[in-house]
Amino acid sequence: MSSSNAADKAATKSGDGKLSGLTTWIDERFPLTALWKSQVAEYYAPKNMNFWYYFGSLALVVLVIQILSGLFLTMNYKPSSADAFGSVEYIMRDVEWGWLIRYIHSTGASAFFIVVYLHMFRALLYGSYQKPRELLWIFGMLIYFALMAEGFFGYLLPWGNMSYWGAQVIVSLFGAIPVVGDSLTEWIRGDFYISDVTLNRFFALHVVAIPFALVFLVIAHLMALHEVGSNNPDGVEIKKVKGPDGIPLDGIAFHPYYTVKDMVGLGVFLILFALVIFFAPTMGGYFLENANFDPANSLQTPPHIAPVWYFTPFYAILRAVPSKPLGAALMGIAVVLFVFLPWLDRGKVKSIRYRGPLFKFFLYSFAISFVALGYLGLQAPTPAYTMAARVFTVIYFAFFLLMPWYSSIDKTKPVPTRVTYHAH
Ligand code: HEM
Repeated sequence: MSSSNAADKAATKSGDGKLSGLTTWIDERFPLTALWKSQVAEYYAPKNMNFWYYFGSLALVVLVIQILSGLFLTMNYKPSSADAFGSVEYIMRDVEWGWLIRYIHSTGASAFFIVVYLHMFRALLYGSYQKPRELLWIFGMLIYFALMAEGFFGYLLPWGNMSYWGAQVIVSLFGAIPVVGDSLTEWIRGDFYISDVTLNRFFALHVVAIPFALVFLVIAHLMALHEVGSNNPDGVEIKKVKGPDGIPLDGIAFHPYYTVKDMVGLGVFLILFALVIFFAPTMGGYFLENANFDPANSLQTPPHIAPVWYFTPFYAILRAVPSKPLGAALMGIAVVLFVFLPWLDRGKVKSIRYRGPLFKFFLYSFAISFVALGYLGLQAPTPAYTMAARVFTVIYFAFFLLMPWYSSIDKTKPVPTRVTYHAH
């Protein structure tokens, strides 16, 4: 036990409140105070973190919202092809507050992706994936993959017509894999078509396996973050300049400073979240698609099949390529390429503030392409749209594949040794 720890314990012991007595009792059996201190009260975060840093804590909030609302949905949902659609309607009409629980969960799914996409974009802006945060980034990417799987499996559960045909399209993509493709699709579905068996296993994956994986990965993500410390909008490592007490001069205690600051982000988020739930729960067919208000019908496809908005950038890449196997491969590569960013980026600086014009050009073109592909993936294909999707696909891949080149020759600005901070 360190001496300061011992002193703290003595101080706590001398406190006569019942709470400090309880804390002491727990501390002698479990490192509660030590954890609180190392992870929160004495975790020093850069003092210049801006609004982009809200999205990590918001992702954590949405994770909790999804697990809790999902738990209550599961109490009345029936994972069988005969009952699933009806049980969701039952939740919407007859279960007390069931409509609210369902809209919280369906809006939460989209909110999760909005928050996580902004969270990831922040990492691109400030080079947060660079050394020493590579593993933190990889855990983040594994979270993203798990989130995609969670969204995909969850989407089949209401057994609406878009659920059915969406799953049909995505699962059949595995058929494009040479040799094993057909057996693999059969293995995933557990049947020769999307059936009751498929629904049952997607349910198991959606409510048990993937949430477990997500929670485990988020814990690993935060452990990696606290090991290396947060990056910041200047991309300056605050641990390099410490005071005599060993605390970074540009660091402030996470609690109370960032717990309070995060409350502001949380307040704004909850207002927007509530506005969607109460006034636009389907978000014009983007959060809950129109065709999903019809039950699954294996004999009739919806007029226009498209995945939910958060998958459409990748779906547009798939459709942009004339050959199906190549399109499916490029779509997969488009998702996985993010993992390699720490090694593709040869830049000498982290933050966009000190990057040169080349990196800015490629990053902003990439961001525009991602949004444009997302839009195009939602539309019925026309020759003009397909051509546009091809152009944006090329820009998308150029961002990653040319990165070793443009990031190394770019003219960067000198990085300050201390963070820039203006008191409000
Ligand atoms: C359930 C999903 C996620 C949760 C709950 C989560 C949570 C957090 C939290 C609380 C932080 C610290 C606060 C902040 O920097 O915003 C953080 C930082 C970070 N996260 Fe995530 N995260 C999630 C997904 C992701 C994904 C998908 C990626 C990228 C692939 C990612 C990459 C990062 C990086 C690079 C940092 C450090 C940023 C910096 O210090 O500048 N995270 N995450």
